[in-house]
Amino acid sequence: MAQRNTDIVPTVDGLAYGGDYNPEQWGREVWDEDVRLMRKAGVNLVSVNIFAWAGINPAPDVWDFERLDAVMDLLAEGGIKADLATSTASPPPWFSQAHPETLPVNAEGVVLNSGARAEYCPHAPAFQAAVVEMATRLAERYADHPALAMWHVGNEYYRSCLCDLAADAFRAWLQERHGDLDGLNAAWGTTFWSQTYSDWSQVLPPRICAETPNPSLVLDWRRFGSDALLRLFRSEAEAIAKHCPDKPITTNLMVTGNFAHLDYHRWGEHVTGPNRLVATDHYLLPDDEIGWPEQVAFGADASRGLAAGGPWLLMEQSTNSSAWRRGYFAKRPGDQLRHSLSYVARGSEGAMFFQWRASRYGAERYHSAMVPHGGADSRVFREVEQFGAWLRRLTEVKGSTVVSRAAVLLDFQSVWAANTPGQPSADMDTYPELRRWHAALWRRGVTTDLANPEWDLSGYEYVFAPHLYLLDSDANLRAYVEGGGTLVVGPYSGIVDRNDHVHEGLPGALRDLIGVRVEEFVPIPKGDKVALDDGIEGETWSEVAHAIDAEVVASFEDYPHTPAVFRRERGRGEVWYLSTRPVALDPLFERLGVAADFPDAPERLELVRRRHEDGRAYVFAINHGEAPAPVPVAGTDLLTGEPWTPATPLDPGSCAVIREA
Ligand code: GLA
Repeated sequence: MAQRNTDIVPTVDGLAYGGDYNPEQWGREVWDEDVRLMRKAGVNLVSVNIFAWAGINPAPDVWDFERLDAVMDLLAEGGIKADLATSTASPPPWFSQAHPETLPVNAEGVVLNSGARAEYCPHAPAFQAAVVEMATRLAERYADHPALAMWHVGNEYYRSCLCDLAADAFRAWLQERHGDLDGLNAAWGTTFWSQTYSDWSQVLPPRICAETPNPSLVLDWRRFGSDALLRLFRSEAEAIAKHCPDKPITTNLMVTGNFAHLDYHRWGEHVTGPNRLVATDHYLLPDDEIGWPEQVAFGADASRGLAAGGPWLLMEQSTNSSAWRRGYFAKRPGDQLRHSLSYVARGSEGAMFFQWRASRYGAERYHSAMVPHGGADSRVFREVEQFGAWLRRLTEVKGSTVVSRAAVLLDFQSVWAANTPGQPSADMDTYPELRRWHAALWRRGVTTDLANPEWDLSGYEYVFAPHLYLLDSDANLRAYVEGGGTLVVGPYSGIVDRNDHVHEGLPGALRDLIGVRVEEFVPIPKGDKVALDDGIEGETWSEVAHAIDAEVVASFEDYPHTPAVFRRERGRGEVWYLSTRPVALDPLFERLGVAADFPDAPERLELVRRRHEDGRAYVFAINHGEAPAPVPVAGTDLLTGEPWTPATPLDPGSCAVIREA
């Protein structure tokens, strides 16, 4: 999918560079040193006021903007722009004390007290009113401030609360979705276990109950939670836009790892468009099966999808270890440069960090920073300076876009549904599976979008649906295949409808498109494998499946001895179905003829092209391998200003950005 080129990139000169800046943790003398170091490192944007509610509004009806004024003025004098946050992610203790009903309640009914952060109930009217008041006051005061580049609403929305206010809000949401109680009872299948509701007051959030809860309820709760937080975000965004209509508004989403708390695609519709900006945070998983470069690529490619062609920005990452990872991983020299550049290669309009200066106190005192506890005379800060210098040389890349030939399908509601209780296998987890396929394509040299199954897929040569458990209708996928695309569907897909009811006739919504009938699920115990007669192995899952109108490509040698891989031509395209989870994906890609974006590129040489509408194109090259690798393009390396030929070797661990001749 091509990114749309728009003028609304972050209102900073060039690509954005900086991080969360929390000067409230320091004395004034440190601020001057901060600005000096920021300028030295080429920082042009910092996120301020993210957790400063207690300073601005220290008591009911008391407002004090003196410190924020001083910070904003200092930044303006230093030529650094502010991504000004509304500070509503963490109400101070006085607020929770004055409005105890705003404290969140968990599934066990326990009230989560103040003392950490994000202690709020998204459904509490007092909190809802307070965040709009805060956003309004800030927008009134800073709309025309010379430091202001953009607005940052809340921070990493994810909070859920199961209190009585939440129950009321849930009921109202359900009434909109399902109409009357008959509609709700039908959607939730409440004839099962005598769960039929006769009055709305009986409907509860998924609080802890005696046995396995109703999965349709659990799924609707996830949707409701995402919508409620989106409403909160929009209430602040609308309040800001009234007073400051011309600056981008964003919030930092977390589409990148395993953090599917929100329906980010639905959110995407509200953080794109005029004066909105998609922003994303990414912290790597140290003990994951998937390597860091692949994790970075997944996060970036997923974020690009949210932006639907518009601009987007990596808002947070770490220079080194993360406090909440117990410090057992540290980035190696150069990782930070490679990760940041990979993000820019994949479309980010800059690279930002959490945080500027390491905190001396608080829960994140051991979280890495751009200025670490070791000070500016450090490897980390020298790399920070180096990346700042690179970004200045890459200014002309701003506004260019990435086009992918392949997509992996990601639907957050399907991810949630596949995790509802009572599944036949605990190991069919969607997000890790999508990341595994995406990583295999990365290793093959294919830049791959993460696309929603309902989006226009017609531009892709290949669409992979490794695990699309929930699917209401195959209409969009059918149109894609009939139009000439190649669709590859993994097992246990198309099984349930939007209410998490098993479709009649498996595999449900996909049965007709793939021409296959599934008779029985045969989950495979962890560690076991099944052999196929074409040499491929499967794990985790298998099915007793039969071809109705499809060619059998391979069959299980072991039990269940039935066909395992199917192919069917349909219209101008084709669809493949796998009734097991292939241990290795490359043999499948070979068979499908999936070629690298840059043929003949060596392994672990990451190559991504960004292109302007006027034809100017840039190849980003990052060598994650152990040996020098030639980059098969000609032009000029913007990082060094030197000419580049297809024979020029790129050293292990090194990067180049080649403006193509
Ligand atoms: C998140 C938050 C930050 C900080 C970092 C630490 O991204 O937004 O406030 O806690 O994590 O990794």
